[in-house]
Amino acid sequence: MKALVYHGPGNKAWEDVPDARVEEPTDVVVKVETTTICGTDLHILQGDVAAVTDGRILGHEAVGTITEVGDAVRGFSVGDRVLVPAITKCGRCEYCQRGMPSHCQTVGGIGWIFGHLIDGTQAELVRVPYADTSLYAVPSGVSDEQAIFLADSLPTGYEVGVLAGGVRPGNTVAVVGAGAVGLSAVLTTGLWGASKVIAIDSNKFRLEKALEFGATDTVEVGPGTVGDVIGLTDGLGVDVAIEAVGYPETLLTAASLVRPGGTIANVGVHGTPVELPMQDMWISNVTLTMGLVDTVSIPTLLKMVASGRIPAEKMGTHRFTFDQFDEAYDVFANAAANLALKVVITP
Ligand SMILES: NC(=O)c1ccc[n+]([C@@H]2O[C@H](COP(=O)([O-])OP(=O)(O)OC[C@H]3O[C@@H](n4cnc5c(N)ncnc54)[C@H](O)[C@@H]3O)[C@@H](O)[C@H]2O)c1
Ligand SMILES: [Zn+2]
Ligand SMILES: [Zn+2]
Repeated sequence: MKALVYHGPGNKAWEDVPDARVEEPTDVVVKVETTTICGTDLHILQGDVAAVTDGRILGHEAVGTITEVGDAVRGFSVGDRVLVPAITKCGRCEYCQRGMPSHCQTVGGIGWIFGHLIDGTQAELVRVPYADTSLYAVPSGVSDEQAIFLADSLPTGYEVGVLAGGVRPGNTVAVVGAGAVGLSAVLTTGLWGASKVIAIDSNKFRLEKALEFGATDTVEVGPGTVGDVIGLTDGLGVDVAIEAVGYPETLLTAASLVRPGGTIANVGVHGTPVELPMQDMWISNVTLTMGLVDTVSIPTLLKMVASGRIPAEKMGTHRFTFDQFDEAYDVFANAAANLALKVVITP
């Protein structure tokens, strides 16, 4: 089969590798029919993720059809159309049983294993461990281009942003960063009846997208960002501030937007320490949440996509085929300049 193989920082190649096959009785093999690229893949290519070593097939998102099942698999058969999520779960360990498969101990101490600890989804075939507990059947009314964004970015914005932030009917919500993850939070915040959703970004194209995705207001980043947002909330600040960038300054912005009693939901992956003004924050009774996505909201999101409540397909702005992986990575790595959000890659 062919696959996109990582060969150290800055190097990857679409090349011939041995076919993925069932190795454990709980495995299946999926023929990949749609995949995409995540910001994390870009970090890997920059050499930021030491656990990813030379020879690893990249990618942790896929929709496809099962071509082979292990002897112990009961819930899926050859020919089933499935969503392969970013998180794999054994279903039995302490963390899986607690509903936190992001920390599944059995698959490698962390739920994110594809394109990280084992070979990933940017390939013609992918081996999926613990298939019964990890895969999701894709309902017939949901297209590949809708389902693919449920593998990672949509559950991330929803679980680590909207659910962790505790958005409730009537709430005002600010989303700092309108990339795929921030826009996923915008797209799903409405499900909880937020009265105001304010998207904040430095990129005009993404702010336009945010309005299309259900934001009620947008604020372009500048010296007056905090004042502008506070002004949109009658001087009170927001109930929930979702951080979806991953820089110290954007977390500080989120912290300055939240009203007393509110929640700062940090989604961004941080690479450096952040100094928070605890001397001002302690007296505000605010909550700060953070975490790695569990992808346990996928069944809910699949239903909402199937019923038309979440137009997930809007996330895909560019299409490529497997032999255009280099081009797809170039467009995604320069997403802002290319007016891109997520890329859809098919055989
Ligand atoms: N917690 C998790 O489980 C999890 C999972 C996936 C991704 N993430 C993280 O979520 C974050 C967002 O991911 P993404 O794929 O949407 O990234 P992205 O790069 O597509 O989006 C980031 C957005 O932030 C905007 N931005 C940059 N600087 C800004 C600033 N100073 N103020 C406001 N906006 C600014 C950019 O214009 C861009 O639109 C990343 O840090 C990513 O690593 C977390
Ligand atoms: Zn990802
Ligand atoms: Zn587990």
